[in-house]
Amino acid sequence: MSEIIPVISATGLYTPPESISNEELVESFNAYVALHNARHAAEIAAGTVQELAPSSAEFIEKASGIKSRFVMAKAPLLDPEIMAPRWRERSNDELSVLAEIGLKAAQDALQRAGRLPRDVDAVLCAASNMERPYPAMAIEIQHALGIEGFAFDMNVACSSATFGIQTAADFIRAGHARSVLVVSPEICTGHNNMKNRDSHFIFGDVATAVLVEARDMAPADHWEIVGTRLKTVFSNNIRNNFGFLNCASPEGIGQPDKLFVQEGRKVFKEVVPMVASMIVAEAERLGIEAAALRRLWLHQANQGMNRLIAQRVLGHEANEDESPTVLDTYGNTSSAGSVIAFHKHSGDLAAGDLGVICSFGAGYSAGTVFVRKAA
Ligand code: COA
Repeated sequence: MSEIIPVISATGLYTPPESISNEELVESFNAYVALHNARHAAEIAAGTVQELAPSSAEFIEKASGIKSRFVMAKAPLLDPEIMAPRWRERSNDELSVLAEIGLKAAQDALQRAGRLPRDVDAVLCAASNMERPYPAMAIEIQHALGIEGFAFDMNVACSSATFGIQTAADFIRAGHARSVLVVSPEICTGHNNMKNRDSHFIFGDVATAVLVEARDMAPADHWEIVGTRLKTVFSNNIRNNFGFLNCASPEGIGQPDKLFVQEGRKVFKEVVPMVASMIVAEAERLGIEAAALRRLWLHQANQGMNRLIAQRVLGHEANEDESPTVLDTYGNTSSAGSVIAFHKHSGDLAAGDLGVICSFGAGYSAGTVFVRKAA
């Protein structure tokens, strides 16, 4: 039996209509700081409560490269008395919010591929920021699209999408499915602590979809998946303790450690060399000269990290054409980031061009998907 080659037939994107600039975010954060410091003036003077320091838009852009981020609920996020996304709780008969935005991204990918939902065999909802434990959001999306077959959720934090792409490619190679949707709805603001000066600016909301298929059914304009590689190394430097055991006591609910926390400096220092050497080693295994890669679609967490990784892989400082940025307008969108970069910045490549979609983040986890443009 001849080998089945998995390809990316199309990608899809859902971008929320509202965005928040650094200036707007900092104004709200600093209003919260002023309120906190005024309310606790006596305790701060007595040394029992810590005075909070203001944030700065210049710091945010310089430290991360982020200028603004798209969000699902702007007003409550900016309200210094709330600082979290809020919307009406949906009934069990309504489409859940994660499924809703995942569905929009999935429909975009299907339409671009000219694919009808009935020809898809499986849906993976691969994301960091899940809305509930079950039923799986993937099954909800599968149901909304009218797809037969199977679906499940998977969470490998920021690397969920690349882990999902490899899983889909493996299903296709093994003959378990011929067409698989990998959907990454990321409402990161729901898991972020908007009152934490170190990380209130990091995240944005978005949904992406990647349609992975057997080459013989794909549209002519596809990307061959040349090779994938996954890696995990345990670390507590990025952590989110949200979960039912942690929320069992009233004190547990809403505590800062039940949201995203990180040691950003350590992450930066430890993850850059891990990811750069992973890309180079995988390129070597595939017989590809890393320096000749036409484009790197890197995880969008920090501009400085991407600059260093690209430099180590390509052997020179990468320009925007070689390593495009979407972080400036989307913020960190967890697993969706490298897929947005690929979605927005791949149409201009020529047949035969090689590139790598690469994610990295909590776990630690990292994934590489090497792709070659077919037509
Ligand atoms: N406004 C103004 N100043 C701030 C600030 C803010 N919002 N937040 C922190 N600072 C200050 C700190 O107090 C510190 O001051 P000091 O030097 O006087 O002590 C200084 O800025 C540097 O803070 P630090 O937290 O070390 O910043 P950094 O340069 O490491 O940048 C990150 C922070 C988070 C942007 C950066 O570490 C990063 O992106 N790391 C990688 C994260 C990552 O990939 N995570 C994966 C998540 S999926």
